[in-house]
Amino acid sequence: MNDKLEPFLVRPATFSDAPAIFAALKAYPDRLVPRPVSDILLNTDRFLVAEKDGELVGTVAWSILPELEGGNPSFELQSLSVRADCCRMGLGRRLAEAAIARIRPYRPKEIIVLTFSPEFFGKLGFRPADKRRLVYKLYHGCAHCAKYDSPFTCPELAMTLAF
Ligand SMILES: CC(C)(COP(=O)(O)OP(=O)(O)OC[C@H]1O[C@@H](n2cnc3c(N)ncnc32)[C@H](O)[C@@H]1OP(=O)(O)O)[C@@H](O)C(=O)NCCC(=O)NCCS
Repeated sequence: MNDKLEPFLVRPATFSDAPAIFAALKAYPDRLVPRPVSDILLNTDRFLVAEKDGELVGTVAWSILPELEGGNPSFELQSLSVRADCCRMGLGRRLAEAAIARIRPYRPKEIIVLTFSPEFFGKLGFRPADKRRLVYKLYHGCAHCAKYDSPFTCPELAMTLAF
């Protein structure tokens, strides 16, 4: 293992992580959609977290986006955060790749992200995508966002990882 990653333990979330996940997402109000603790609790099995010295320093989650035409679903990678003092140490990549490894056995059609960090996701193999193609898949997540009036006025970029 890379020495610089050793301080971090990436593991599945537990119910007791919910308050710290809530705070981690609120730390990036311009970059992440905040999630109520109730939503975090209901999706505990779709969250991974990273710990350093017993403190939560990273989060990632995913959701299932059913295909209207049938077939295997697509997934959305969500709530990816690394605490500011732990950035640029490989932890974001490690969290994203761990989430993708959890999704992969379900044979996803594609994995989608909405992001302000296209360079980061580009390094993981994600490529820009047309929001209009994805809007019905994104509707569920966007429907809970109070920041913009529609996915098309939201400045986040859509990117996908094809399988
Ligand atoms: C985006 C974020 C998760 C990246 O986490 P990180 O731990 O700093 O990323 P890593 O150290 O694993 O970086 C992986 C690669 O991406 C690059 N990278 C990371 N952030 C970058 C950025 N903002 N711009 C350009 N490249 C970036 C790194 O240089 C590294 O490149 P390399 O593999 O060639 O060395 C983190 O900055 C963050 O939490 N941002 C705020 C929340 C957010 O925007 N989340 C994404 C929402 S979808």
